[in-house]
Amino acid sequence: MADDLILRPLTRADAESTRRIYNHAVLTSTATLDIEPRTPTDHARWVEDHLGIYVCLVAELNGAVVGFASISPYRPRAGYASTVEDSIYLDPSVQGRGIGTRLLRSLVETAAELGFHTCIAHIVADHHVSRSLHANVGFELVGVQREIGRKFSRWIDLAIMQRLL
Ligand SMILES: CC(C)(COP(=O)(O)OP(=O)(O)OC[C@H]1O[C@@H](n2cnc3c(N)ncnc32)[C@H](O)[C@@H]1OP(=O)(O)O)[C@@H](O)C(=O)NCCC(=O)NCCS
Repeated sequence: MADDLILRPLTRADAESTRRIYNHAVLTSTATLDIEPRTPTDHARWVEDHLGIYVCLVAELNGAVVGFASISPYRPRAGYASTVEDSIYLDPSVQGRGIGTRLLRSLVETAAELGFHTCIAHIVADHHVSRSLHANVGFELVGVQREIGRKFSRWIDLAIMQRLL
C-alpha cells in the first residue's frame, strides 16, 4: 500500500502541507496538547528549527505530502543535549497503512546516525495506536504522568516511552 512512498528531509516548501496536517490534529484530537492552530508565522519558525540537526522527515505519497516525523530538543539545559523527543503526524486519509511505522523507524535511525543517545515520546495514555507504533519501533513504557494536561474539558494522562538509540 505504501509502495510509492518517499521519505525525505523537510524543506521550506513543505510549510503549508505540514501546517495543515498538524493543525488538523490540534483541532480534532489530543494527539497534541496545543489548543490553538499554528499560524503561518508560528509554523515557519518550527520549519526553520527542523531544517538542521533536529531533523524532520516528510512522507510523500504519489507526490503529495501526507505526513511528517521530527525530533526536537528534550529540554534546554545542556546536560540533556543528547536526548531528543519525537513527534509524528499523518493526514487522516493515510493512517493505519503502515506509513507511521516506516516514518518513525527511519526517524529513529536518522537520530542515531546524527549521534543522539536516546529518544523520548510523550503520548496521551489512551492513544493505543501511537503506543503500538512506538512499541513496534523499540520504545518501552517508562512511566505515566497523571492528569498532566487538559484539553476538550478533560484531564490528560501522558505515557512516557523511551528508546535508547
Ligand atoms: C499515530 C500515527 C502516527 C500512527 O501512524 P499509522 O501509519 O496510522 O500507524 P501504522 O499503520 O504504522 O500502525 C501502527 C500500529 O497501530 C495499529 N493501528 C493503526 N491504526 C489503527 C487503528 N485505527 N485501530 C487500531 N490499531 C491501529 C497498527 O496495527 C500498528 O500496530 P501493530 O503493528 O501492533 O498492529 C497516525 O495514526 C497519526 O498520525 N495519527 C494522528 C496524529 C497522532 O496521533 N500522532 C501521534 C501523537 S503521539
